[in-house]
Amino acid sequence: MNRREFLNGAAALAGTAAIGPSMAAAAAQPSSLRQRAEAKGLLFGCAVKSTALRNDPDYVRAILEDADILVHEYELKRKNVEPKEGQYTFEGADAVMDFAGSHGLKVRGHTLCWYAANPDWLANALQGPMAERERLLVSYIQTVMDRYRGKMQSWDVVNEAVEPDQWNWNGMRRDNVWWQAFGEDYIGLAFRTAKEHGDGAPLYLCDYGVESDVRWNERRRTAILNLIERLRARDVPIDGFAIQGHLKPFQASFEPEVFARFMRELEGFGLQTMVSELDVADIDGPDDPGKRDAEVAAVTKSFLDTALSFRSMTGVLCWGISDRYSWMSDIAPYKRADGTRSRVLPYDDGYRRKPMWQAIADALDGAPARGS
Ligand code: XIL
Repeated sequence: MNRREFLNGAAALAGTAAIGPSMAAAAAQPSSLRQRAEAKGLLFGCAVKSTALRNDPDYVRAILEDADILVHEYELKRKNVEPKEGQYTFEGADAVMDFAGSHGLKVRGHTLCWYAANPDWLANALQGPMAERERLLVSYIQTVMDRYRGKMQSWDVVNEAVEPDQWNWNGMRRDNVWWQAFGEDYIGLAFRTAKEHGDGAPLYLCDYGVESDVRWNERRRTAILNLIERLRARDVPIDGFAIQGHLKPFQASFEPEVFARFMRELEGFGLQTMVSELDVADIDGPDDPGKRDAEVAAVTKSFLDTALSFRSMTGVLCWGISDRYSWMSDIAPYKRADGTRSRVLPYDDGYRRKPMWQAIADALDGAPARGS
């Protein structure tokens, strides 16, 4: 069953209890987030978990309703793909690819080179001679890109390369097996390898913490822009920059003008851009869920209005579609002190649309069409 058949069926079911009221309404309404994005030449989608694709039909319904592009939440992390040196397991990653392929959805590859979610054996293996270290980076990128040749809309080649709080002269992340093995040259090697083994899909650098005027964000923006300048000077083949978009408005307010200045700098390098992991942390937000939802929606709208006003922006992906599975409910920097589930994504844990869904819809409707 492809997505069109599925949604026709969902519309027919609209009067039954088989799907939630908001989903019935969604199935009947013409303008999903995917359709609103398509109308402007943009993509809208989300990170997905292969386990939920398999076990949660409401999750699948929400994704097929609103998403046109997917990204693996964790299945394409090296820890899951190469648990033992040279022994690759693509079952989880393939499950997402197969789901996307059967419904005509795009997928973006996240991520080829990251300081985190690496298999335990890698750090030790990177202690060998330089040729061996290079082989460990090159062979992985080659293996993964060869497998998904022609299937990825874009790639996050290097993820989270900067961390100014680690007091490197240039703000590079030092708690990073790749930086420890190569210094900054790992980034050029990764992108050149991706270029050589790629199929022309755009190659992105990806990072977070660039949307507020707090000092920590200012230092991250500076480190990122200086890094891109150095990479450009060395003809490193970077096509785009992915802004993750893990906003934390109740701790570091979103500042449109500050973010717009950063976007102008990125466009000055001729880079395409994307919001690749949007969720709006509600840690330290109002205890009343309704109030919290309204404030999260207002920040979402302001952020996307600013981001989508830039023609380099190619699309928006949320880091999940429903609060039922958000990573923010589980990890320290984001989870709420009162232990309640984080309310950070377009659908709540019962797949009811939240004000954030409408904020994304309004921002897409208000965005200038690409190419205009
Ligand atoms: C996280 C996933 O949400 C977790 O499920 C996984 O265990 C670890 O990775 N920035 C990123 C993402 O680029 O890859 C991270 O995703 C979240 C932070």
